[in-house]
Amino acid sequence: MVFIIITKPYLVLLLFFLSCYTPSALFTPPDNYLISCGASQNITFQGRTFVPDSPHSSLVLKTGNSSSLASPTSTTNQSLSIYQTARVFSGLASYRFKITSPGRHWIRLHFSPIKNSTWNLNSASITVVTDDFVLLNDFSFNNHNGSHIFKEYTVNVTSDLFTLTFIPSNDSVVFVNAIEVVSVPDSLIPDQALALNPSSPFTGLSHLAFETVYRLNMGGPLLTSENDTLGRQWENDAKYLHVNSSVLVVTANPSSIKYTASATQETAPNMVYATADTMGEANVATPNFNVTWVLPVEPEFRYFLRVHFCDVVSHAMNTLVFNLYVNDDLALGSLDLSTLTNGLNVPYFKDFISNASVESPRLLTVSVGPDSQADITNATMNGLEVLKISNEAKSLSGLSSVKSLLPGGSDSNKRTEVMIIGSAVGAFAAVLLVAVCCYCCLAASRKKRSTSPQEGGNGNGNGHPWLPLPLYGLSQTLTKSTASHKSNTASCISLASTHLGRVFMFQEIMDATNKFDESSLLGVGGFGRVYKGTLEDGTKVAVKRGNPRSEQGMAEFRTEIEMLSKLRHRHLVSLIGYCDERSEMILVYEYMANGPLRSHLYGAELPPLSWKQRLEICIGAARGLHYLHTGASQSIIHRDVKTTNILLDENLVAKVADFGLSKTGPSLDQTHVSTAVKGSFGYLDPEYFRRQQLTEKSDVYSFGVVLMEVLCCRPALNPVLPREQVNIAEWAMAWQKKGLLDQIMDSNLTGKVNPASLKKFGETAEKCLAEYGVDRPSMGDVLWNLEYALQLEETSSALMEADDNSTNHIPGIPMAPMEPFDNSMSMMERGGGGGNSGTGTDDDAEDATTSAVFSQLVHPRGR
Ligand SMILES: *[C@@H]1O[C@H](CO)[C@@H](O)[C@H](O)[C@H]1NC(C)=O
Ligand SMILES: *[C@@H]1O[C@H](CO)[C@@H](O)[C@H](O)[C@H]1NC(C)=O
Ligand SMILES: *[C@@H]1O[C@H](CO)[C@@H](O)[C@H](O)[C@H]1NC(C)=O
Ligand SMILES: *[C@@H]1O[C@H](CO)[C@@H](O)[C@H](O)[C@H]1NC(C)=O
Ligand SMILES: *[C@@H]1O[C@H](CO)[C@@H](O)[C@H](O)[C@H]1NC(C)=O
Ligand SMILES: *[C@@H]1O[C@H](CO)[C@@H](O)[C@H](O)[C@H]1NC(C)=O
Ligand SMILES: *[C@@H]1O[C@H](CO)[C@@H](O)[C@H](O)[C@H]1NC(C)=O
Ligand SMILES: *[C@@H]1O[C@H](CO)[C@@H](O)[C@H](O)[C@H]1NC(C)=O
Ligand SMILES: *[C@@H]1O[C@H](CO)[C@@H](O)[C@H](O)[C@H]1NC(C)=O
Ligand SMILES: *[C@@H]1O[C@H](CO)[C@@H](O)[C@H](O)[C@H]1NC(C)=O
Ligand SMILES: *[C@@H]1O[C@H](CO)[C@@H](O)[C@H](O)[C@H]1NC(C)=O
Repeated sequence: MVFIIITKPYLVLLLFFLSCYTPSALFTPPDNYLISCGASQNITFQGRTFVPDSPHSSLVLKTGNSSSLASPTSTTNQSLSIYQTARVFSGLASYRFKITSPGRHWIRLHFSPIKNSTWNLNSASITVVTDDFVLLNDFSFNNHNGSHIFKEYTVNVTSDLFTLTFIPSNDSVVFVNAIEVVSVPDSLIPDQALALNPSSPFTGLSHLAFETVYRLNMGGPLLTSENDTLGRQWENDAKYLHVNSSVLVVTANPSSIKYTASATQETAPNMVYATADTMGEANVATPNFNVTWVLPVEPEFRYFLRVHFCDVVSHAMNTLVFNLYVNDDLALGSLDLSTLTNGLNVPYFKDFISNASVESPRLLTVSVGPDSQADITNATMNGLEVLKISNEAKSLSGLSSVKSLLPGGSDSNKRTEVMIIGSAVGAFAAVLLVAVCCYCCLAASRKKRSTSPQEGGNGNGNGHPWLPLPLYGLSQTLTKSTASHKSNTASCISLASTHLGRVFMFQEIMDATNKFDESSLLGVGGFGRVYKGTLEDGTKVAVKRGNPRSEQGMAEFRTEIEMLSKLRHRHLVSLIGYCDERSEMILVYEYMANGPLRSHLYGAELPPLSWKQRLEICIGAARGLHYLHTGASQSIIHRDVKTTNILLDENLVAKVADFGLSKTGPSLDQTHVSTAVKGSFGYLDPEYFRRQQLTEKSDVYSFGVVLMEVLCCRPALNPVLPREQVNIAEWAMAWQKKGLLDQIMDSNLTGKVNPASLKKFGETAEKCLAEYGVDRPSMGDVLWNLEYALQLEETSSALMEADDNSTNHIPGIPMAPMEPFDNSMSMMERGGGGGNSGTGTDDDAEDATTSAVFSQLVHPRGR
């Protein structure tokens, strides 16, 4: 999850909740945030658990004031309700949510002005905006009767962060009692509906926001979130009937409702369809009138209407035929439900777009009445939803836009100099923040720079004996090494010869992943979901499906991908191609059978790697990074080197993944993120963090963390450990400086590592972790040193086993590795392949809950 540091005097509350949903057989919302603001404990309300808003908020507040407020009655926990606590803000305040699955989300807000002598919440003016839409503008309980209000909105969230900002007016305060941000099934609200008067199709609804103004259960009881799989409320319609006596309620057994593929339990609960209003006896010989509902609305807005029908009235097919009117306009004529649905008790719904009535502009009327052609004079309706549609200003309340409501006006970037600096899981975020802060203080106070002499390397990439690698120089070795995989080889050759990624059709991707079958899901990351797929020719691939982008974003994406697909190296995970049809952002990578390096170190119960295997893997990864830094026409900084981004193929050959993908698309800009420092906690170069200056040496630092992780088999950050052990970089460095690295290394390695090799390895890691970039070796130097450590290890084992090879390698005498690639090739081919079906992606369970920690293509000397 995300946490945010703020450099401007605004208050942001951080949310780090793991989703908590009540399980539903039908739809499980990927995002399900139920937050009880200002509460100190979980509150169960209408069958759902609301968690307190920021248990760690004190960490976050730089400036700005927030207070939690509890009603005096809340001390007796008999009927604790979300309306008994609130959070009161005296300045602009935001809640920011990590969105795992883009698409429509319910935004539900609960307000209740708790009596308190400090603040008069009744007169507080409440303004709430999202990243794009104004939800509520200058609402006050002074002009409202009732002890609480509940507002429901639905917004299509397209980025992976969603911000809800509360704006107080002038010197007043703003408050909120509870917030829900919950995924809506994509199919619930279509992009198109029929507009009335004039009648024409209306498209583009998916870009608009809605506010629920009415949701009526005709003739039925009040249904609350407990009674609806999507947590909606349905109220009885009686008070909106034009003439009370005109209706007669018909009730069926809810279990008799036969849902269809188009009308499911998500469309409306069966309790809605099981009750209906029909025409009552009007004490006239031939009853002929309309049943009309009159709904007060705001004339400035358009409305989305969903009318729910289910023929629970008729005893035979084709007897009930009636008309539906909206504002006197015929919306549906001669409606015969049993023909449309091919049966009785089958739900049916229809969507319309309408303005308020022309005659009485503050009202919207909906009527059903008998059709003159019908055998039976009757009409029915089961449910009605009326949703207000956002206007030109992207507002659901007034004519002000988000920009004009936020201080700073047009310059939205100025408004929030927010840095998203990384990721952490749940409550660990707090510990992480402390760790990072301490780290920075430590770093800042440590004026003296590391003075350990550079040994072995020359500290400067330019003077290094290894020249930058030719762009396609290794495609030959690539094909050679994967000869066992015929189809794979074929695609690699074709790629190498065209030097361009293959453009896949969306259908091909659908076929390869069995329509993105959840069973083939390998992982979920900041970028989106990763599926295992099989191409038509049998090639196994990893398919990354990103969150959709805008048109402009697509062009960038394409350019980037075309560039990335030219990067070929034995130690980089190959991009096979991409698909950008239908604004999809799909990347197809080679499948890595043994998954991320991390799972071979800890957490996955895989057999421990030998020291030699570890060295070979580190060397492979170092080669990949060295190539990124020096091999391409422009230097590429990975930005997110970590053990989950080093993947292993079936022969345990290490390949670096997730390089060069920009995440600063327009979608992120819209969240007002101006400076995004990317990277993962525990791996973040302290210098980069301080100065936001990115160099290749930042990758070197992260790689140093990887080396320590490989040696010690523990996560880079482990917040449950004592303070001095939380951060592997600090902890291992302390032991390394004492020369006691062997004390903390993986117990599986004890006694199986050549001490000279370990020493070299430790020194290399230590240099990588130097405080200042200039003191760190280049990736080339790192590679050289690791090669040397491997030679020391091989020599020692060779000496132990047999004496005949030993003359070639005398321990202690440094030697330049000769023909490193051929050399390593033969070693790699000897490396045994674990048979497990690894995930083949960089995204592991942790990443599933983390923010977009994405490496980015950077031209360090500026574009
Ligand atoms: C609060 O609710 C969440 C989600 O349901 C749960 O994970 C957590 O353990 C609960 N906390 C307490 C103190 O009950
Ligand atoms: C926070 O509260 C203090 C006193 O309660 C007040 O002096 C200060 O101005 C407030 N800060 C903001 C940003 O409202
Ligand atoms: C008003 O709220 C403040 C802060 O939560 C609290 O300390 C105080 O006791 C409340 N006053 C009353 C009368 O409830
Ligand atoms: C009220 O809460 C306290 C602790 O918060 C708990 O010990 C007590 O059992 C609760 N009482 C009821 C009636 O739930
Ligand atoms: C509140 O109630 C009063 C009297 O009961 C009524 O006059 C007024 O119109 C109501 N206001 C609203 C906003 O409903
Ligand atoms: C806030 O201040 C503006 C001018 O500064 C004034 O026009 C407006 O009425 C004030 N609003 C409230 C709710 O006091
Ligand atoms: C949300 O918006 C995106 C792009 O703007 C669109 O592709 C998607 O279909 C929309 N989702 C829904 C549920 O309307
Ligand atoms: C709604 O659900 C609650 C809890 O399951 C139940 O007690 C109540 O009877 C339900 N309401 C209706 C109208 O079915
Ligand atoms: C109809 O009935 C509802 C509730 O039963 C009541 O609130 C409303 O005033 C009635 N309307 C008329 C016109 O009688
Ligand atoms: C409409 O159908 C219902 C249910 O069958 C019935 O009770 C009612 O009398 C009918 N209305 C008219 C006007 O026939
Ligand atoms: C029902 O209302 C529509 C639209 O106002 C009108 O055209 C129609 O004549 C009405 N039907 C009856 C029976 O009053």
